[in-house]
Amino acid sequence: MYEQYFTDFGSIGSAAEVWIDKEKGLVKKFFKPNSLTITKKMPIFQEYSKVKELFENEIYWSTKLKSKLVVETYEYGELKNEPGFYLIQEYLGPDLLHYKPVKEYFPTVVDQLVEMFALFKEHNVYKKNNAMANLTGKNGQIKAFDFKWAVPRSEDAKKYEVNSLHTWLAKIDKDIPSILMEYI
Ligand SMILES: Nc1ncnc2c1ncn2[C@@H]1O[C@H](COP(=O)(O)OP(=O)(O)O)[C@@H](O)[C@H]1O
Ligand SMILES: [Mg+2]
Repeated sequence: MYEQYFTDFGSIGSAAEVWIDKEKGLVKKFFKPNSLTITKKMPIFQEYSKVKELFENEIYWSTKLKSKLVVETYEYGELKNEPGFYLIQEYLGPDLLHYKPVKEYFPTVVDQLVEMFALFKEHNVYKKNNAMANLTGKNGQIKAFDFKWAVPRSEDAKKYEVNSLHTWLAKIDKDIPSILMEYI
């Protein structure tokens, strides 16, 4: 049974409405102007055109980066009864903010992040929101999700990617920013 997911740890960039079916291992997300996001607030953007743009970006990059390091998306489309979109993706467990310390549950997390950032480099993308809130995993394997802010690499966008290493991923291991810099 799908239950709506709420948390107080949400980022300011909340845009999606998230429903989780733990037994079936599925997440259903709604991208719509009047969604109720994980922090019980309205989405950061409420114009239909912006919602559509974010949704399409999410699908574009999660399809392009499809691999063992990215959460699988099973289905997506337009809503029939109201303006907006939905997607259904895999649920492996909660995001990495729920595992303390992360390295105890995911002992090879640093090596896996190196692989993940090598993949991002290969596809010339900056994901920009590399935070524990946008990573999940199971049996020691991590996977990324939430690609709505991803952009083709540019000098301008580089600072956001660098910043995400220092602000968020460094909390997993303080050496992560220096280890990952060569892939940025
Ligand atoms: N596939 C997933 N597996 C586990 N948790 C998820 C998944 N998708 C979303 N969540 C939870 O919902 C939160 C919000 O989803 P997300 O796609 O990051 O949207 P937004 O950043 O717009 O709020 C995530 O930070 C995470 O806690
Ligand atoms: Mg997110």
